[in-house]
Amino acid sequence: MNFKPGLEGVPVTHSSICDIDGLNGKLTYRGYPIEELAAHSTFLETTYLLIWGELPSPQKLRDFEAEVQMHRRVSFRVRDMMKCFPATGHPMDALQSSAASLGLFYSRRAIDNPQYVYDAVVRLIAKIPTMVAAFQLIRKGQDPIQPRDDLAYSANFLYMLTEREQDPLAARIFDRCLILHAEHSLNASTFSARVTASTLTDPYAVIASAVGTLAGPLHGGANEDVIAMLEEIGVPGRASEYLDQAIDKKRKVMGFGHREYRVKDPRASILQELAEELFARFGKDEMYDVATAFEKEAQDRLGPKGIFPNVDFYSGLVYRKLGIPRDLFTPVFAISRVAGWLAHWREQLGANRIFRPSQIYTGEKVREWLPLEDRDAMENV
Ligand code: ACO
Repeated sequence: MNFKPGLEGVPVTHSSICDIDGLNGKLTYRGYPIEELAAHSTFLETTYLLIWGELPSPQKLRDFEAEVQMHRRVSFRVRDMMKCFPATGHPMDALQSSAASLGLFYSRRAIDNPQYVYDAVVRLIAKIPTMVAAFQLIRKGQDPIQPRDDLAYSANFLYMLTEREQDPLAARIFDRCLILHAEHSLNASTFSARVTASTLTDPYAVIASAVGTLAGPLHGGANEDVIAMLEEIGVPGRASEYLDQAIDKKRKVMGFGHREYRVKDPRASILQELAEELFARFGKDEMYDVATAFEKEAQDRLGPKGIFPNVDFYSGLVYRKLGIPRDLFTPVFAISRVAGWLAHWREQLGANRIFRPSQIYTGEKVREWLPLEDRDAMENV
């Protein structure tokens, strides 16, 4: 059998959503280069493009934005449920549970009905940010802030989270971050979403399973660890020593490396520019110099192995400057990636076959049953 650990290089589906050219550092959504989308689009327009395959007409975009705005609020029952979550729990776990709970509130599983699909897309895009912001306030002992209809998608999220209206530049930079994180082909969480979708379960279960997969430190969770690493390094002059130690001890450097890219992740380059734009306006984060010194040192030592900064390396610095707490970096990633997950959910349903891979069994051959009273001799084994 042709076994590939981690399914490296093994196609598991046809897809027309996103294309990665890992040798040249190019990324497109539905054929549009990520640089163009990050410069000119909005997160909701990009979401529409990803899910329905084409850029919306002005009217279709207005309708989609209005629908999303209308569905931002979450039921008081969801908020009450979140109040029972432990305040010390990780916000990704809170998000996974609350996303799954939406399946209880919208339980009609009519996944072959286009209106049901549209409504589920709108609800998930609209409510995930509200739930992330709600848990942040609830764990501080406060009541969640209601969405504000006069604020656009990203500005409203930052308002609900930080309890103040942000500068328009900050809101626009955040919106561009959401565009950059919205989709990335068959990464672990998207694969997880497609596997779950292939059973024909409801979209809330699809998103909840993807959120759980994104949470791990080898995937979306790396952006938290990058900031921890930069803080541990502390000053630019210590970057080289830290890197040497990591390489000596065969420790993975967080925010570096990618299964698909052999050059710097194009999203990392754009995020670095966004960080610089933000710092030029609101003052520099002292960790930025540590990050750039680290990237320079890593060029010679990890570069020859094709290991360069990935999307998680600079995103945390942007989020930190926007006042987003470190353990919300991955939930913010999820707010964005829900667009890609939903695009893959639709695509999977369009040509579905349940995922059921095989395995190479390495366990015991058939054994004879041993009654409990005869197992004393096993104590010493
Ligand atoms: N630091 C140091 N060495 C690394 C790194 C890294 N970040 N990434 C890969 N390598 C090395 C491995 O040690 C291995 O070396 P070896 O062949 O000498 O044993 C080789 O590169 C291949 O590494 P794998 O782990 O097999 O590569 P894989 O494609 O399976 O993993 C992954 C990709 C998980 C992203 C990996 O690069 C990693 O763990 N990076 C750090 C975590 C991280 O930043 N994750 C976020 C990725 S982006 C995202 O998910 C949104």
